[in-house]
Amino acid sequence: MAILVTGGAGFIGSNFVLDWLAEREEEVVTLDLLTYAGNPENLAPVAENPRHLLVVGDIADEMLVGRLLREHQIRAVIHFAAESHVDRSIVGPEAFIQTNVVGTFRLLRAVLSYWQELPLEKRQAFRFVQVSTDEVYGTLGPEDPPFRESTPYAPNSPYAASKAAADHLVRAFHRTYGLPTLTTNCSNNYGPRQFPEKLIPLCLTRALSGETLPIYGDGQQIRDWLYVGDHCAAIRRILDAGRVGEVYNIGGCNEQTNLAVVQQLCAVLDLLRPRADGRSYREQIAFVADRPGHDRRYAIDATKIREELGWQPRETFLSGLKKTVAWYLENEEWLHRVQSGAYREWVERQYGEGRIEKKE
Ligand code: NAD
Ligand code: TYD
Repeated sequence: MAILVTGGAGFIGSNFVLDWLAEREEEVVTLDLLTYAGNPENLAPVAENPRHLLVVGDIADEMLVGRLLREHQIRAVIHFAAESHVDRSIVGPEAFIQTNVVGTFRLLRAVLSYWQELPLEKRQAFRFVQVSTDEVYGTLGPEDPPFRESTPYAPNSPYAASKAAADHLVRAFHRTYGLPTLTTNCSNNYGPRQFPEKLIPLCLTRALSGETLPIYGDGQQIRDWLYVGDHCAAIRRILDAGRVGEVYNIGGCNEQTNLAVVQQLCAVLDLLRPRADGRSYREQIAFVADRPGHDRRYAIDATKIREELGWQPRETFLSGLKKTVAWYLENEEWLHRVQSGAYREWVERQYGEGRIEKKE
């Protein structure tokens, strides 16, 4: 028996695989297409581990998925694979439809066909975990209560819409065919191995190379930040004890404005890697044009997972941020290697001439 982790060479997936193999005996098969966001180096610590297999392939390849499920007698699928960056979904939404919607649909179809062949006991024990996002719920006003599992879906970006569509397909496969699914909607993650196009690693990288730290709009948008290891622990808990067919919101109880996040990042960097001129990295903060359709606030009500499954985050924002910065400082080679030509093109397109408006 083994578990199948899709997207396990990406940010959250690789943290999940590494934590799983450190904590548990069970084998892991990772299926990852190795897009620009997928990096086999993220799994380097388990490259020689006989309990881990990395398969390079597409979740939309039903033949491949079917073969892996049968050959490895998979008893659970943890579905991380996705196009995950909102800004890229604005510039080129089609890849998001292909992987997040069509890919999830084909994955579900391959899983369903395998699941239907299993003997009753294994069918009952089988789990499909859909790893989704709080962005499907849309945006909140300053006084609105946080998202609950019953909050209606109202996605605003092509990324969020594609994840919402995938969540609906997962729900339909459960309701229509009885596939034992669980869906998680988690808030913004941060931690080691996050690709440096997302806010925290982007600003960290640019801080070190003396560039501006781009804050969209007024920087007062709010996100609920959760350390990646806490997210992975929540998924393990849901896999072990979650009720089939249910949705669980996962959040850090840690609402912060983007500006405050970047300021705290600067403070940690000032401590761990002071600038040569002795000044603060905060001086590099710059406000740039806002993201179109930018959601103002996300917040998660994690009461259900806390009360039902006894999960809560272990890291505070400051402890998680220190661990994260320390990891990047110790792994500058990793950073240099992921900053390929394709990455540089993206950064030039997104942050090049003309977008920087004013300094803090
Ligand atoms: P990521 O972009 O770092 O990783 C995605 C991985 O999926 C990459 O390794 C990529 O190669 C792989 N992939 C993409 N298309 C594929 C395909 N067609 N077949 C197989 N593999 C493919 O993303 P992440 O931040 O680690 O997010 C993982 C999941 O968690 C996503 O589903 C995302 O929606 C969800 N999520 C992310 C956050 C966050 O803050 N990052 C928060 C909540 C939920
Ligand atoms: P991001 O990491 O892209 O996650 P998401 O949009 O999925 O929440 O962005 C987090 C927040 O930071 C979001 O409100 C957009 C903002 N942001 C910036 O202000 N500047 C940037 O360069 C980036 C990438 C994001």
